[in-house]
Amino acid sequence: MRYGPNLLEEILRRTDIVQLVGRRVKLTRKGQAFWGCCPFHGEKTASFKVENARRTFHCFGCGKGGDAFKWLIETEGLSFPEAVERLAGEAGVELPKWSPEDEAREEKKKSLYDVIALAAEFFEAQLYEPGGRAAREYLKGRVLDEATAKKFHLGFASPAGNALIAHLTAKNVTMDDMIAAGLARGADENHGPRDFFFNRLMFPITDGRGRVVAFGGRGLSADAKPKYINTGETEFFSKGRQLYNFHLARPAAIKSGTIIVCEGYMDVIALSKAGFEASVAPLGTALTEDQLQLLWKVAPEPILAFDGDAAGRKAGLRAAHLALPHLKPGHSLRFAFIPGDDDPDSLIRTLGPGAMQKVLDAAEPLTDVLWKSETEGKDLSTPERRAGLEHTLADLIGQITDGKIADYYRRDFEARVFDAFKRRPKRAAWEPGRGRGNRGGRGESGRNPRFPPQPEGVSEAVKASLIARQGGPLKVKEIEVCRLLLEEPELAAKYSETVAALPFLDLSLDRLRAELLNVAASGSRLEKQGLENHLIRCGMADIVARLKAPPREVGEETASGEDADARFLRAASQLRDMAERDPERKRALERFKQEPSEESWLEVRRLLEDRSGE
Ligand code: CTP
Ligand code: MN
Repeated sequence: MRYGPNLLEEILRRTDIVQLVGRRVKLTRKGQAFWGCCPFHGEKTASFKVENARRTFHCFGCGKGGDAFKWLIETEGLSFPEAVERLAGEAGVELPKWSPEDEAREEKKKSLYDVIALAAEFFEAQLYEPGGRAAREYLKGRVLDEATAKKFHLGFASPAGNALIAHLTAKNVTMDDMIAAGLARGADENHGPRDFFFNRLMFPITDGRGRVVAFGGRGLSADAKPKYINTGETEFFSKGRQLYNFHLARPAAIKSGTIIVCEGYMDVIALSKAGFEASVAPLGTALTEDQLQLLWKVAPEPILAFDGDAAGRKAGLRAAHLALPHLKPGHSLRFAFIPGDDDPDSLIRTLGPGAMQKVLDAAEPLTDVLWKSETEGKDLSTPERRAGLEHTLADLIGQITDGKIADYYRRDFEARVFDAFKRRPKRAAWEPGRGRGNRGGRGESGRNPRFPPQPEGVSEAVKASLIARQGGPLKVKEIEVCRLLLEEPELAAKYSETVAALPFLDLSLDRLRAELLNVAASGSRLEKQGLENHLIRCGMADIVARLKAPPREVGEETASGEDADARFLRAASQLRDMAERDPERKRALERFKQEPSEESWLEVRRLLEDRSGE
């Protein structure tokens, strides 16, 4: 740790936290404290308190709180050392110098930052000089207007090959420094010293503080080889640890709660121009673990928007596998695949921001992407191959280090495997006309040519049949409880224990419940619509539609004068009572959940069937 506790204490003592917070939140004085509307969750009445006496902020609504450092970390996405430096600067506290060597290195680095800043200015100015015409034409051809070019400080490296060296030499920058900053190549047997970039459109790459640390340069002609070149690794630029545009995207991501990761510089610029300001891109390599951690600092579920081509799909899958060991409750990824051969830039240019929004709205959760990659287009017709699939899925789950998440994945994959291969075909023993109580299930699959059913067709059929056909008071109660949970998203968080213990028989409703608990555990506070959208994205569109659609089932309680909490608690306890009275059914379900086989499923179905008329 670079700074001792006394020093940090000193900085906090000299910081007026009310004034600091007051820059972002309107505060009103009440007694010793100041109150306002919490910036971390939407609220209309002030439950957010800031006190100079304690030097803290705290929200009684969402529980966020801390000192002035925490405030900057949470609202501006600064790292801890950055927050310390910022507040020390504002409070006039001098931070200690380290050893003379450290200091010399820092000084050197500082001067290299200055060198790069000079280069960035030079490139940008060149774009607007007569010599920059070809680059300006190029931008016009890509529908990139001047205001946007200026926002990203785009520049132009002239074809001369030593223009930058000449410019910097005139400013007394040494050749060694130019080389250390990644701006020039030293002389070799064939050449004198040369500019690293020439005849390229220049994209400055900034670090988290907005200082330029490197460049990407795009060739102007369609056949430029290579299409892009980037600054090599330097003392302050590591392409696997930084993200293009992170500096500007960070506050936007914190504000909107999401961040988009696309593949290229031009995509980031097009997204930002179209209003998606929280957009970043890796720097010419596959997404790394460091970059993933950076993304999770500012948004719980970054959306990876990859190009629609095979390379894009592959990159998406790589990122999916990369993420598994690092998943934490509330930390995941979503995947938006751009259709066709487009990338975000071309999609926005041809179809507009609305089309991009649609793609983002349809972003798939990590489980879907993993499942699809293991099953889509694969022949899983033999028992050996299916067993192989289960092995692969188990390996994937084995990558997840967080026990709770691994457990949810296990259940999710089990349900999918079951849906795809282990369920009975349509019109099986329990269907009308086959005779009620026909318990023969074993061995029948061999005789039925339709087994196993195709994944899609069956899963729709079962979801529909489960809710639609399975009558019975217990089922009606399950539906009622779920409707209440959808209507009042807070309930699942407030009564998560109760929700978790509900004896659901219906598998679709059970999955819905699991996802509601997931959301609650992640700490996200979703509005009703947001929650529905989330469930739809998780593949539960039909069940959501079904739960929302009137008419209500006979026996379901309609809204009474009670509030949502009371209605929920009563329905939950009725459901529990009903299930208690039916231990056989409960046991069958437990058995099925533990070992989802065709037999245990048939048992559950038989019990449901037998009693649906009661
Ligand atoms: N890239 C690179 N070197 C290359 C090609 C690509 O570093 N030779 C990196 C760049 O950061 C680029 C990203 O990979 O932005 C995506 O590459 P690609 O999809 O080929 O380019 P686009 O971003 O679509 O660029 P453009 O639209 O300008 O063709
Ligand atoms: Mn492109």
